[in-house]
Amino acid sequence: MPVIPLDDHHWALTTPSSTYVIGVEIDPDTGEAAPRQTYWGPRLSPEAARQVTGLPRRHVSSFSTPGEVEELLPVDGGTRWGSPSLQVAFGHTRSLELRLAGAERHEEEGGAERLDVLLADAHHPFEVVLSLRVRQDTDVIERWTTVRAGAEVAVTRLDSGNWFVPDAPAYRYSGVFGAWAEESQLQRGPLPVGELVFTSRQGITSHVANPWVMIDAGEATEEHGEVWGVAVAWSGSWRLTTTQRPEGGVCVSGGFGHEGLRWTLAPGEELVTPSVLGLYSTGGFGGASRAWHAYARGHVLPTPFEERPVLYNSWEATTFAVTEAQQLELAKTAASLGVELFVIDDGWFGRRDDDTTSLGDWFPHRERFPDGLSGMLDGIRDLGLRVGLWVEPEGLSKESELYRAHPDWALHLEHRRRDEKRGQLVLNFARDDVREWALGWLDRLVTEHRLDYLKWDMNRPFTQAGWPERGAGQDLVWIEHTRGVYEVMRALRERHPGLRIESCAGGGGRVDYGILRYTDEVWPSDNTDARDRQTVQHGFSQLYPASAMSAWVTDSPNPTTRRAMPLRYRFHVAMAGVLGVGGNLSEWTSGELETAAELIAQYKRVRRTVQHGAQYRLAGTPGQERSAVQYVLDDQVVVLVYNPLGNAKRGPRTLRLTGLDPEALYELETDGSRLHGGTLMGAGIRPAAWQPIGADHRSELVVLRKL
Ligand code: GLA
Repeated sequence: MPVIPLDDHHWALTTPSSTYVIGVEIDPDTGEAAPRQTYWGPRLSPEAARQVTGLPRRHVSSFSTPGEVEELLPVDGGTRWGSPSLQVAFGHTRSLELRLAGAERHEEEGGAERLDVLLADAHHPFEVVLSLRVRQDTDVIERWTTVRAGAEVAVTRLDSGNWFVPDAPAYRYSGVFGAWAEESQLQRGPLPVGELVFTSRQGITSHVANPWVMIDAGEATEEHGEVWGVAVAWSGSWRLTTTQRPEGGVCVSGGFGHEGLRWTLAPGEELVTPSVLGLYSTGGFGGASRAWHAYARGHVLPTPFEERPVLYNSWEATTFAVTEAQQLELAKTAASLGVELFVIDDGWFGRRDDDTTSLGDWFPHRERFPDGLSGMLDGIRDLGLRVGLWVEPEGLSKESELYRAHPDWALHLEHRRRDEKRGQLVLNFARDDVREWALGWLDRLVTEHRLDYLKWDMNRPFTQAGWPERGAGQDLVWIEHTRGVYEVMRALRERHPGLRIESCAGGGGRVDYGILRYTDEVWPSDNTDARDRQTVQHGFSQLYPASAMSAWVTDSPNPTTRRAMPLRYRFHVAMAGVLGVGGNLSEWTSGELETAAELIAQYKRVRRTVQHGAQYRLAGTPGQERSAVQYVLDDQVVVLVYNPLGNAKRGPRTLRLTGLDPEALYELETDGSRLHGGTLMGAGIRPAAWQPIGADHRSELVVLRKL
């Protein structure tokens, strides 16, 4: 039983290796109820958890109340001065005074259990439900909040939940920041006293930051130490506020939306947040990442154990100038390399010759495809390839038939400009008619061409985002648009169970645990330079599994960075995720094509382990020095070893593996030599790529089999 009642107002939520104890405290003087976290750490017996509830509370001084950092959802109201997780106004009155209205335990599918704590305002007809879900096979705890309005109320903050990080002598935070073509840059540093906000105000997850933060006590390493992680499963605007109070106490509150939005609920309406996920791990950052990856496989991804096909995408080769002859030519070469899925990117529809027109006009480009797409797509399929197309259903060009017919379908505000970004606006997916239209053409497109794959792009953040007819409730489009996108993806998949979807937003602008429920992989960055990609992949892997990480081998010099790199290095970097090829194959030499075919064949022998195995980031800062990443699944061990700077004298020469069975024998695929797991972990191997002196950008693939 994952939810254990300790007494009538305390519960222990137990996961395989952690315990989370909460209780509702009721102020004897005011009657105010404050659900609190009293423990989040190593797994406790019910008896020990009960003892925790009897321990003295944190000291609360008379001037300030650091006690609120422990609350599951600190509200704006009463004696609290921190950043609230819930803030509402009834007419001109801000502030909440909540009373306990009950608590319910629900058994759910797959051995999961949910605890709902019900609260209600002391005066206004306003209910709050805190929901917590625990499962027996993951340490990730899911929490979300529902508010129900009995009378009109304006909600200016509604986080999914607040998490308290237990006391430690010092704290560090970890997270990723980024920009277009430079996403997922890992940053880690001392947690300042004050409020540290990671946020997106863009209506999409954004390149700027990703919705997660990990806190440790300054001592965690890659494989050891306690780490507390919090992630918001949401693909619109979001905010994660980590607070370290001057009086002590650290908490992280996370949820959708950003400051300034005002969600007005009419009587009878409710608002449900997405989930905020909490993970406690004792296995360092690597252990935390593996627990997140396992959670993604077990409870998020729609096709978690499928082997992802090797894809070819024509974007970098042809950009908008898509033609049948040239795509068929590329497909022929791709098929001969062992590619399994061919995706035609932007440029096949409307009058799409550049990025200034046609989003919304999802019919074949009349000049380039006067007879439709079938000739091209059937030709590709005849080569034995699966077929995919690029789409941007939320995009709307002013220069399009759709915009001329439905200017009101764009997100817009009354008496404000409609600023374009990348020559486009955003379609309002909160509207029923827009979703119906989108599902209609997507369904027809997938049906008519028997598409196996869609790359679903979203190339601009929201600006002037509104829906004037909705009046006071129009800020809700910031939520409903995202839910609308989820809904169209869900319905499309339901109609086409074989369809796979890749999430893209101008590169890695939509990577999160919300979109991963509806998509099979995500495009982490438009930057395909292998060195830069290593840094991006390092940040990506902190939370998301390799099976969801699309990675292409493109041309050298790289079109974005102009950096030249050997084909093998480019392949070995892309082989750390879902391998794809995105170069202009018509310009590759026969020697390059031969090497590519050989490496694709090698990838197919290891991809199940790379995509679905336990991932260990072994050593070094990827892309900047010697580094390696290891994957283990069943009896296969796969290690990708990199050395970008051949002359570097400093840095390791031996590579110690990890996560193996010390007693077992492992056979190296290259020379058949056999070593004990203990030897491989204790003494290590000497990868050729790591030995000086040699060329820059040496890399290798090491494969071992457990006997
Ligand atoms: C975005 C994507 C690219 C490509 C282009 C097409 O930038 O991230 O991969 O699909 O759009 O316009």
